[in-house]
Amino acid sequence: MLYIGIDLGTSAIKLLLMDQDGKICNIVSKEYPLYFPHPGWSEQNPYDWYDQMIAGIRELTADCDKSSVAGISFGGQMHGLVVLDQQDQVIRPAILWNDGRTEKETQYLNEVVGKKELSRYTANIAFAGFTAPKILWLKTNEPENFARISKIMLPKDYLAYRLSGAFCTDYSDASGMLLLDVEHKCWSQEMLGICGIREAQLPKLYESYEVVGTLKPDVAAQLGLPETVRIIAGAGDNAAAAVGTGTVGDGRCNISLGTSGTIFISSRSFRVDDNNALHSFAHADGNYHLMGCMLSAASCNKWWMDEILRTTEYAKEQEGIRKLGENPVFYLPYLMGERSPHNDPRARATFTGMTMDTTREDMTQAVLEGVAFGLRDSLEVARSLGIRLERTKICGGGAKSPLWKTIIANVMNLKVDVIESEEGPGYGGAILAAVGCGEYASVEAAAEKLVKVTGTVEPDPELAAKYEKQYQKFRKIYPALKDVFGMLAEE
Ligand code: XUL
Repeated sequence: MLYIGIDLGTSAIKLLLMDQDGKICNIVSKEYPLYFPHPGWSEQNPYDWYDQMIAGIRELTADCDKSSVAGISFGGQMHGLVVLDQQDQVIRPAILWNDGRTEKETQYLNEVVGKKELSRYTANIAFAGFTAPKILWLKTNEPENFARISKIMLPKDYLAYRLSGAFCTDYSDASGMLLLDVEHKCWSQEMLGICGIREAQLPKLYESYEVVGTLKPDVAAQLGLPETVRIIAGAGDNAAAAVGTGTVGDGRCNISLGTSGTIFISSRSFRVDDNNALHSFAHADGNYHLMGCMLSAASCNKWWMDEILRTTEYAKEQEGIRKLGENPVFYLPYLMGERSPHNDPRARATFTGMTMDTTREDMTQAVLEGVAFGLRDSLEVARSLGIRLERTKICGGGAKSPLWKTIIANVMNLKVDVIESEEGPGYGGAILAAVGCGEYASVEAAAEKLVKVTGTVEPDPELAAKYEKQYQKFRKIYPALKDVFGMLAEE
């Protein structure tokens, strides 16, 4: 049997075809535009996602036995607000996870409704990228669009809806809406009231590995696939990536170096960080997790390479980097503001520490290190909760760089286990599809069997000590600049 995992990312949709033994048979990637209509805003067109998914599935399955395709599932960019009217037309472009327009609404939720109440209702507080503040923004700024809303969904759920007709979501992705009572896995009536929406406007909730429907006949015909192909709910991309790297069960860690950077800690039991600096979400294996998310990770390097250095030779730019742990140049990675742990949409990226002998390599190194230090900020929160980690998995585009993995291992002082496939969310999506179709008894059983570690990057004590000193410098830079960022954001 064959399973399709769809990773609905921010820069592209990546589709992966996996057989029942976990072998990847094909991978296809299709890009679409990302729009920044104002500084700090971030939008995409759901029709672009759908069109590229259809083109992608056709290409992915062109040479396989189509009658063997049994299931499709997803790992989707989280928190995005997709709104449909009564005719199922998309009302406005989707507002994405890294959009910072909801500063006022976030402040209202955290300060007027109150963090304690929010945490009691949902296990989380408001962050600018979460879905509930976006609903409030729409209500105030686009009341005519708000009035037309018939269905509210997350990005990957739009794809499942178009494929199967099932208006559904899963607990891991729903956790990031700030509308779900995460502990009890149901919609929070209090949050619905605060946002002025009805439960009928929200999707039906499923575990990530549950079947939500089958391909609609017209879509099956268009794709040349059987109508019996099952659609499985899927997960937020971080939970799906965690499945794809075997980060399931208790106390395991995964770092994703994609457009965003996340540190994901799986847990069999529900728990909340007292300060809500880490997100407390449901996991795709049926359990829970804690997560820190930085808004710009591999995207910092992409920006630096594509826009500033104007090169496509990422690996070549890293070749001249030698002096790890001694870089006088520091980089704050806040190109889109920052989520974890600062929760500050006004934060901005900066370089500091340059002198006349600073080189191109120093600046490139500072970008890679700045992202690692940003992740370390979230790791510190986890450590302050008494969570002790010795090792982590790693995935995402940034994980392709051996140098970046070495920097991460030493900045975090963690052993970094490298797995056979870096296709975290796509592979996780395919595993969820296989579980949903009954190929494996549980997500944990499937991940244990299918995910293979191929090597480990060990931290070097001397280098880790140097990076410890560097990190202590890094963590002083944002507090020193916070007010400056506020001033720069004033009109
Ligand atoms: C997680 C988050 C990002 C997106 C990226 O909270 O916002 O990791 O899911 O697609």
